[in-house]
Amino acid sequence: MSKINSLSDYATKRFRLAGKAYLAEGDPFFAPTDSLRQEAAAKGQHFVSFANYDYLGLASHPMVKTAASAALETFGVGALASRLVGGERSSHRHLETGLAKFLGVEAALTLVSGYLANVTTISHVLGSRDALFIDELSHNSIVSGAKSAVAETIVFRHNDLDHLDFLLRERRDNFRNVLVVAEGLYSMDGDIADLARLVEVKERRKAWLLLDEAHSIGVLGTDGRGLCEHVGVDPQQIDLIIGTLSKTLASCGGFVCAKAPVIEWLRYTLPGFVYSVGLSPVISAAAETALQLMQQETWRIDRLRENAELFVELAHEAGLDTGPAIGRGVVPILFSDSLETLAASRHLMAHGVYVPPIIQIGVPKDQPRLRFFLSALHTEAEIRSVIDLLAKRKSISMAPAHALSAAT
Ligand SMILES: Cc1ncc(COP(=O)(O)O)c(C=O)c1O
Repeated sequence: MSKINSLSDYATKRFRLAGKAYLAEGDPFFAPTDSLRQEAAAKGQHFVSFANYDYLGLASHPMVKTAASAALETFGVGALASRLVGGERSSHRHLETGLAKFLGVEAALTLVSGYLANVTTISHVLGSRDALFIDELSHNSIVSGAKSAVAETIVFRHNDLDHLDFLLRERRDNFRNVLVVAEGLYSMDGDIADLARLVEVKERRKAWLLLDEAHSIGVLGTDGRGLCEHVGVDPQQIDLIIGTLSKTLASCGGFVCAKAPVIEWLRYTLPGFVYSVGLSPVISAAAETALQLMQQETWRIDRLRENAELFVELAHEAGLDTGPAIGRGVVPILFSDSLETLAASRHLMAHGVYVPPIIQIGVPKDQPRLRFFLSALHTEAEIRSVIDLLAKRKSISMAPAHALSAAT
């Protein structure tokens, strides 16, 4: 009889295979950023994070905090049941109406996480005679949705719509319904899909389109309405838009947008909504206030764009590789190997700049990177300083050996 492994033994082995050795010289992840900030301030030093997607700097806005505190006082923390069976708070519908109006769609439905919104929506809308076409660099929540769906999953090359069109031409007729999934702003590369062409392809091939706008709301488009606004596509042409409250909207939770009959159906049947608790009233009050603020304080959207453009411009001047990023909220700096990426992250941390490495998980193993989230609250000095630190490090590591020993 074969020996039964304990779960601990199995976990230890799996973690080793996942790259535990990279942590040997210190763990760059899970940094306690609040205490690091306080410690730096106590020493008269500066600490800045480029690792949080607070794109418009609304997470610490006094009005967001006040709205959250007021909701806490009035309603308490929890929603206490699924909204279908436990009833809801009026703030749930206000938020959903506000989101739909802002994005120019008919209706929206909120869930307790953006991740869950993808997983449950993708697996719910497709049946066993259907298929799902996803980009090879899709976020893990899309991949998990595909894995939990009974439909067949077909992967197209990243942002390669010729490839998608080819696959649809070859395979579309084998299925009843087909869903194509793309992201507004890709979270690891900071690039975008050609949305106008995507809409043309999905209509010609009689498919539905789900667009994950997690990183593009507040970031793309003059008013921050996302990729549709950025490229001038009518959002009503997109069958399903997924969004999150955890990024620009300063709290946490996710949402699905679609035509009214679709949302009405989902409201009564979507498993991740029906069988999960409603959004905490504290969270929905914070998100609704952030949504109003981003429409009032539009300077934040302009500032974010200026900051991201400056970051990319300086990075290029310094010879750093920003990959395919278009220069908005997410910009990676690509490195040749994981150890070099770790070393660069440690170097920044030693100078009070937090940017954990993205290695092994979430990106192809041969494309490690430092992934920067820019914010409207970053200062020009902070952006110049971080690029300067990377540029100096790069020139040292590229210097001939004799120069290197003199420099270190
Ligand atoms: C593209 C994309 N979709 C969905 C999510 C999940 O959102 P949340 O973190 O709010 O659950 C993320 C998270 O970063 C994401 O990058």
